[in-house]
Amino acid sequence: MSFIRPVAIFIMGVSGVGKSTIGNLLSAQLSMPFFDGDDYHSQKSINKMAQGHPLNDDDRYEWLTNLNNVAKIQLKTNACIIACSALKETYRETLKRDIEKDVKWVLLSGSFDEILDRIKQRKGHYMPPSLLKSQFETLEIPVDALKIDIVQTPQKIAKKIVEELTDKSEFGLIGLGVMGKSLARNLASHNFKLSIFNRHVHGLEENVAIDFKNKHPELFDSIPFDDLQTFVKSLQTPRKIMLMVNAGKPVDAVIESLIPLLSKNDVIIDGGNSHYKNTQERIDLLSKHGICFIGAGVSGGEEGALNGPSIMPGGDERAYKMVKPFLETIAAKNNNGNACCDYIGKGGSGHFVKMVHNGIEYAEMQLLAETYFILKRSGKNPDEIAVVFESWMPHVASYLLEITIDILRKKENNHWLIDKVLDTSGNKGTGNWATIATAELGMPSTMIPAALFARYVSAFKEERIKISEAYFSESTQLTIETSDLLKAYQLARIVNHHQGFKLLYQASVTYNWDLNLSSIASIWTNGCIIRSLFMEALIDILKESNTILLNPSIISEIITLRPALNRVVAECVLEEIPIPCLSEAVNFLNAYKEANSSANLIQAQRDYFGAHTYQRIDDDSGTFYHTNWKHQTND
Ligand code: 6PG
Repeated sequence: MSFIRPVAIFIMGVSGVGKSTIGNLLSAQLSMPFFDGDDYHSQKSINKMAQGHPLNDDDRYEWLTNLNNVAKIQLKTNACIIACSALKETYRETLKRDIEKDVKWVLLSGSFDEILDRIKQRKGHYMPPSLLKSQFETLEIPVDALKIDIVQTPQKIAKKIVEELTDKSEFGLIGLGVMGKSLARNLASHNFKLSIFNRHVHGLEENVAIDFKNKHPELFDSIPFDDLQTFVKSLQTPRKIMLMVNAGKPVDAVIESLIPLLSKNDVIIDGGNSHYKNTQERIDLLSKHGICFIGAGVSGGEEGALNGPSIMPGGDERAYKMVKPFLETIAAKNNNGNACCDYIGKGGSGHFVKMVHNGIEYAEMQLLAETYFILKRSGKNPDEIAVVFESWMPHVASYLLEITIDILRKKENNHWLIDKVLDTSGNKGTGNWATIATAELGMPSTMIPAALFARYVSAFKEERIKISEAYFSESTQLTIETSDLLKAYQLARIVNHHQGFKLLYQASVTYNWDLNLSSIASIWTNGCIIRSLFMEALIDILKESNTILLNPSIISEIITLRPALNRVVAECVLEEIPIPCLSEAVNFLNAYKEANSSANLIQAQRDYFGAHTYQRIDDDSGTFYHTNWKHQTND
């Protein structure tokens, strides 16, 4: 009977429920020190209660802070048990300050009459029975506590608590694919006690969990399963289960099998790339069973999942609080040491944010592919291109630029491997969803579709070969300055990020998510695929406005960079080099900076053939006009 890391067990509940008795019994059974909260009140508070007056929040603050300090000191070396009524959520916030992941709550509860009887029999205690009513009124039942009814004997209660906290796991993970395995190892290396599950598929997936456990020493205390029912039973309540299975039907199938096995207040986290609308549907379905569902975007690939991913959790905020210590502990840390994980918002917002992350990722990757292609067509070999990219690092450092340099330098039998890679790119769907979302929300985030469609064009390899023969034209060497190319790339990235964050902003307004764009930028500064120097700058920029293009320092940067972007795009067009994202950046900027656009003609055409009406610039009353455009009048 032991814990794999020191924990502070808070035995809580109203006065007279038996906290001290249970605390002492547990202390003996677990050989852990016990601290009775009653001993930590100030004399002033004791006098107040003895006179029949309940304590207020201010009276309690110092007391709770003292108990938090007791726990902190103990946790440095060993586990401990603390009895404290901890009636309100805010009191518990104080008690677990800075030690959240190592705190366990046990709520003792019973009926008013039963507890009143006990209090009346209690001798020498300063708390008069008359205060019990106010204790019941103040109690806010915690969701994240082991709940024990005091009808059983103290010995049985203590035994149950010991079994629950020492034998059972704190966190369950379902699905041991690449990402699931890395997350499990990450959790275990932070000393969380885990249950890990992978299904049994005869001849295909056999003994996956046990073999995985045996391969990695950090999983020594983890419990492997291929039977779902025993897996669920192995978890402390309320249960926290993370799904790392493929998005779509597999997620629904696992949820369906879990529903009959779970209880009220249990939390399921979907850590896959699920569609945000599916996440909302799953929240609705599970809430009918009292089960909480968190849709969490997880970025960073295999390495990020192992060493610290960026995590974007959305759903019910109270449910998030229950899984927060786990997710924030395993997440990457930003420059200030804060977790790259924070509550995103209600419903499917976490998965929406991850989808937009991937949309930005698509365009960032495409921009690098275009600059690589331009440098290649300027006569540079992969090593020379890597040297150019490396020289850009001080200006545009990013994870994607770093990995691109590695890719360009990779050789196989003395040949650059990149030259052997077939030029058709795949996708798993998130770029497609982001494109649909931007269209549905009426946001012109045009670089995501441009990047997506560039991948689609690449897929038509055979047709491209035929068309290149039919339309053959002599390819000449490009004469683009690398300094111009850097500026073009910098500016296109600004446009990409502007569009991505605008898409988030619009979704936030439409779905009432109240997204904090600056905090999302901060979550994206480490662990994820689109982490970059620019993302770090966006944390402050987005605090001021959701429109990156209107930030004064960005405006002056754009004014400096724009001529270079225009030159690069113009030369590429003349030389027939495909640059969908760079040119989209030019077109978007041109369109956005046009105070009087060509859309007047579109409105007139719509009114002509469909009587869709139009507004006039010489009438600001908001009136809509319809004209019979066919018959010219001279009035
Ligand atoms: C991440 C990645 C990850 C995955 C994408 C790739 O943030 O870790 O975005 O989620 O690599 O799904 O998507 P495509 O296969 O569509 O390029």
